[in-house]
Amino acid sequence: MTDVDVIRVTGGARLAGEVRVVGAKNSALKLMAAALLAPGRSVITNVPRITDIAIMAEVLRRLGCAVAFTGDEVTIDVPDEPGTEADYDLVRRLRASICVLGPLLARRGFVRVAHPGGDAIGSRGLDMHVAGLARMGADITGEHGFVIASSPGGLRGATIWLDFPSVGATENLLMAAVLAKGVTEIDNAAREPEIVDLCAMLSQMGARIDGVGGSTLRIEGVGELRPVRHATVGDRIVAGTWAFGAAMTRGDVTVTGIDPAFLEIALDKLVTAGGMVETRGHEAFRVQMDRRPAAVDVVTLPFPGFATDLLPMAIGLAAVSEGASLITENIFDGRFMFINEMARLGADVKTDGHHAVVRGRETLSSAPVRATDIRAGAGLVIAALCADGVTEVSHAHHIDRGYPDFVADLRRLGVAVDRALAPEEPSFTF
Ligand code: EPU
Repeated sequence: MTDVDVIRVTGGARLAGEVRVVGAKNSALKLMAAALLAPGRSVITNVPRITDIAIMAEVLRRLGCAVAFTGDEVTIDVPDEPGTEADYDLVRRLRASICVLGPLLARRGFVRVAHPGGDAIGSRGLDMHVAGLARMGADITGEHGFVIASSPGGLRGATIWLDFPSVGATENLLMAAVLAKGVTEIDNAAREPEIVDLCAMLSQMGARIDGVGGSTLRIEGVGELRPVRHATVGDRIVAGTWAFGAAMTRGDVTVTGIDPAFLEIALDKLVTAGGMVETRGHEAFRVQMDRRPAAVDVVTLPFPGFATDLLPMAIGLAAVSEGASLITENIFDGRFMFINEMARLGADVKTDGHHAVVRGRETLSSAPVRATDIRAGAGLVIAALCADGVTEVSHAHHIDRGYPDFVADLRRLGVAVDRALAPEEPSFTF
């Protein structure tokens, strides 16, 4: 029997104070992969100290890189000829390892990356990654659980239309295109701030990219890139989690280290719900709420739409709002899987396909619940702030994958919260 991590949070709290967010996990992981594109030493700063980053470091080490951490900096020494294989034992723990596919294919002309499979929020295919690389001349097959790609003559520029603005496919194709021969155009590209951050690092490395931040990226391949030092953009999902927490608990929270423009729609929802939002340039915002929130409808969409990773927080807000909210999820088919846990906290939620109707209640009710993924876990902890009594959120290691110092930050904002190890449920045998 193994122990599970539990976060115990006392409800009835009001979040108040200031909190700083670190660099975005979903950017730092890709920036680390981008380092593979240039031999030599790249340094990435403002990197969150979370498990996913440690796993990515191990992926890079197995490819022959030397990777070292000092504070929030990671130094990556890339050899002239990095390895070409990412194994299942790592890829299954970090789906984002798939982002080494593009850079390795571009550098080495051959790569074998374990197929990541699905996860707790949906099936998450790779078809757009594969189709895009094939358009650039790669030969791609799947065998024994690996995606195997080769391009002995080198990749060549191509025009690629994505069926959907996939974050991962845009990143892989970008990282392949920067070293391909000729011009690549990615149409219907993802526009997330993390993509803009990746483009900034690639450009600094010597890549030629036009249209950054828009849905058509035009990349003129270059012969080689140079290593750089680059600071990771702030984590908008962690920032958004605090924003929703402030609104739900009738609190007053200032979040720094983040451009509020990355959360425009989310912050606007909080204003519609009755909150006050002040922004400070490109680096901070403050959310205050002095009444019970009014119900608001939310639809998740690719950036600049409302982020799917904030859906659990939107459900939490709706669960304590006055009135009924319609929440629509358009990105992941399994995102509502945690709803039963929210219901255990007393949330009145009904789902139908990719819609959820949430009827708000004055307060929620503490109960033991289980984190099923990073964002669901954080959403449950935030919702528990609005419950009477002490809520135990088990399998808290999921939360650690996206929120460095979550418990310490909650404490700083005035919450009575701690962590403990609890025994996993016993298994029964015949
Ligand atoms: N999809 C396909 N085929 C593809 C690629 C994607 O069908 O070839 C589908 C997926 O199945 C999914 C949808 O398109 O239903 C969106 O996938 P996308 O590629 O945009 O997402 P991702 O790159 O797999 C990243 C973040 C997610 C975040 C999404 C959407 C990382 C490591 N992950 O995933 O973050 O939710 O973009 O913004 O960057 C998290 O941090 O908790 C997290 C899940």
